[in-house]
Amino acid sequence: MSRAAAARTPVEPAPRPPAGAAPRILVVDDESSLRDMLRIVLRRDGYEVLLAENGRAAIDVLKRERVDLLLSDIRMSEVSGVDVLKAAKELNRDIVAFMMTAFASTETAVEAMRLGAVDYLTKPFSMDELRLKIQQHLESSRLKQENVLLKRALNSRHEFSNIIGRSDSMLAVFRMIETIAKTGSTVLVTGESGTGKELAARAIHFNSMRRDHPFVALNCGAVPETLLESELFGHMRGAFTGADTNKKGLLETAERGTIFLDEIGEMTLSMQVKLLRVLQERRYRRLGGTDESQADIRVIAATNQDLPRLVAEGKFREDLFYRINVIPVHLPPLRERREDVALLAQHFLEKHSARAGKSVRGLSQEATALLEAHHWPGNVRELENVIERCVALEQTPVVLAETLPANIRSAGHGTFAPASGPGATPGGFPDLGDGFDLEARGEEFYRHYIALALERAGGVQVKAAEMLGMSFRSFRYYAKKLKLR
Ligand SMILES: Nc1ncnc2c1ncn2[C@@H]1O[C@H](COP(=O)(O)OP(=O)(O)OP(=O)(O)O)[C@@H](O)[C@H]1O
Ligand SMILES: [Mg+2]
Repeated sequence: MSRAAAARTPVEPAPRPPAGAAPRILVVDDESSLRDMLRIVLRRDGYEVLLAENGRAAIDVLKRERVDLLLSDIRMSEVSGVDVLKAAKELNRDIVAFMMTAFASTETAVEAMRLGAVDYLTKPFSMDELRLKIQQHLESSRLKQENVLLKRALNSRHEFSNIIGRSDSMLAVFRMIETIAKTGSTVLVTGESGTGKELAARAIHFNSMRRDHPFVALNCGAVPETLLESELFGHMRGAFTGADTNKKGLLETAERGTIFLDEIGEMTLSMQVKLLRVLQERRYRRLGGTDESQADIRVIAATNQDLPRLVAEGKFREDLFYRINVIPVHLPPLRERREDVALLAQHFLEKHSARAGKSVRGLSQEATALLEAHHWPGNVRELENVIERCVALEQTPVVLAETLPANIRSAGHGTFAPASGPGATPGGFPDLGDGFDLEARGEEFYRHYIALALERAGGVQVKAAEMLGMSFRSFRYYAKKLKLR
């Protein structure tokens, strides 16, 4: 019997086991008196204790049971404590392993530490020392695991089904998507161009019960009306000139899945009637066909237009609007959630840097500040384009301010109408005075230069966009918004 077993444990309050289930300790020693002693002491401290009299039995227990802490002798016949340790670590990387050794085998104890044991005690040891160490190691392991969980929770809070964001407004969108995905309701996703409407639609589909069925997207603005109808409903051979075979429509393809009707505001009034009928009756017929099909489809529509305004102007049917606007999801413009800019920029940086085989790792503080200050008319899509371009051009591991496009670098400098005369400030800007409508003044400025660029470019939009250092998309967005077509 070792002296350890003879050591007395003073009667003092036992250390509290961590909250929840009592930690489980597996004691492995071929000396039965030590096993019994440890069992009594450790049980009194509130742990659950399992015993094994040799290495083989220990490995059996490890395979069957959850064990939080392994307390094993090193020198045992046949299967050694080091073998038990190896098996334990293989079965559970997070197990806390504690070795006991006779003074003669410290070398093996060092080897055990290399294999992942947290500590070892040389026999004989005092029970108090052992109890204290067990308590400390279990506590630090618990903290470590808590950190891992916390980190995971933090990361997942910034990403939901490929949508990145940490702003309150995006976190609210994530929660909304998660909730409505489970329902079968029709959803209307609104938001400016490039805010992630299609991404949101996909997230709804892939978090729903329909995820194993197709997600079919149709851009209603990109297809002429005559084609749109046959695209959606399909047609029979001979239904119209050129229909030389039977063709399945997208509604049929999307059966049991989701159909995404993008840019629904672009749909003509007569097409709107046809769509309304499908939504009301959940039935449709192929062009030129006689049989009606049942549609088991979830509809998600999206638009960057102001549908209530279109309704007021008589360009969009009110009944259809109510049919699709069952659950509205709004994606806020990027300039209203600036705290997402750096996070998104980093995400795109990693994506494009990997794709281009480059090692651009981050953005300089100045570059980040400029990105955060930009107005982002093209929203996340514009940001992604900017980052992709930076990755292509960047020669250093960090994106510097000078690599950013001119229109972003000049944020706050010269983007406003230069003023002269009374009230002009040194920066060339009109004085704030008692305040003025910045949006309207900004719009004036945009209107002036977009019109001028269009004029100089002879009406060629791509050229005008280039002259203004804008992407074609944002140019078109502004031209449309300011009715400068
Ligand atoms: N929150 C986000 N996280 C990651 N990527 C995003 C996010 N929002 C948008 N994107 C990316 O930006 C691009 C534009 O997104 P998406 O096509 O969903 O926008 P949209 O609102 O449908 O734009 P549009 O009205 O122009 O069709 C896509 O490449 C998309 O992956
Ligand atoms: Mg889209």
